[in-house]
Amino acid sequence: MSLKQKILDLKKQKDAIILAHNYQRQEIQKIADYIGDSLGLSQKVSQLNKDLVVFCGVKFMAESAAILSPNKKILLPNKQSKCPMARMVTPKGLKELKEKNPKAAIVSYVNTTAKIKALSDICCTSSNAIKVTKSLDKQKIIFVPDKNLANYVNKRVEKQIIPWKGYCPTHDNITEQEVKKAKEKNPKAIVTAHPECKEEVLNQADHISSTGGMVDLAKETKKSKILVGTELDLVNRLNRENKDKEFIPLSQNAFCQNMKKITLKNTYEALKKEKFEINITTETRKKAKKALEKMLEV
Ligand code: 13P
Ligand code: SF4
Repeated sequence: MSLKQKILDLKKQKDAIILAHNYQRQEIQKIADYIGDSLGLSQKVSQLNKDLVVFCGVKFMAESAAILSPNKKILLPNKQSKCPMARMVTPKGLKELKEKNPKAAIVSYVNTTAKIKALSDICCTSSNAIKVTKSLDKQKIIFVPDKNLANYVNKRVEKQIIPWKGYCPTHDNITEQEVKKAKEKNPKAIVTAHPECKEEVLNQADHISSTGGMVDLAKETKKSKILVGTELDLVNRLNRENKDKEFIPLSQNAFCQNMKKITLKNTYEALKKEKFEINITTETRKKAKKALEKMLEV
C-alpha cells in the first residue's frame, strides 16, 4: 500500500484531520483536508469537530491553532519545521524595546512564537495589518518581527511605526531586477506579491496580499497570466487548481526550506505515534489568546 493511502486510512481510523499551509509540498497538499494561509488554518481548527489535528506547516502556525483550540491535540510532524523570521525576535529583546518606548503598543505579526504573542497588545496577519494598526488608540507602534511588513504598514497609516529588523529569507530574496525581467518577458501579466517582499518589489505589484488572498485572486481574475511573488509551492498550487491560467514565479529562489521539512513519511509517523504535540504553558497561552482574539475582533 502506498504511504499516501496508509495516511488516509489512518486518518480515517483515528478521526483526525490534516491541514496544510500553502507552502507545503504538493504531495502533502494532496492528502490535506484543508489547504490555506496561516491564520485561516488556525481558525479552521477551532471550527471543526475533530480533536486530533496534524498541522503541516511551521511551528508558529501549529502554535496559533493550539492557542485558539486548547482542548485539541495539535501535532507538528517535524519539530524542526520552524519559521526563521519568527525566531528573529526574542522576548528579552522585545521587552527591552518596550522599556525604551513605554507608550507604544506592540503589534505582532502572526509569524511569531507564542511567547512573543503573549507580550503583544494585538496580533495581525499580512492581510489585516493595516486595519489592525489603525484600530489602536496609541500613536506609537512597535511592529514585530518583519521590517518589510512594518514598512508596508508605515506607508499606509498615520502613526509612528518602530519596526523590528526581522525579515523572511524567502521573500526578502526576491529582487527588483527579477520583477522587471519577468514583466518584460510577460508584458500582459499582472503581478501579485506577498507583503513580506521588499518595498521595491511591492512597488511593482498590482496586487499585494496574504497567500489566502492570492488563492482568491487566482480564481477571480480575468487575466490569464499572473506573476507571483511568493513561495514556489503556492505557485504550484495555483497552477494545479486553475488550469485555464498560467502562474509564473517572480523568482525561482523563493523557496522556504523549513516548510519542506514536512514529508509524507514524518506525517505518517506523526499520525501513528501522535507526535509531536504542541504544548504551551497556560499563562503564555492565555495571554497569547488575548492578542489573537483582539485581532479577530478587528
Ligand atoms: P500567509 O499568512 O500569507 O499564509 O503567510 C505565511 C507566511 O509564512 C508567509 O511567508
Ligand atoms: Fe517563515 Fe518566510 Fe518560510 Fe513564511 S516563507 S514560513 S515567513 S521563512
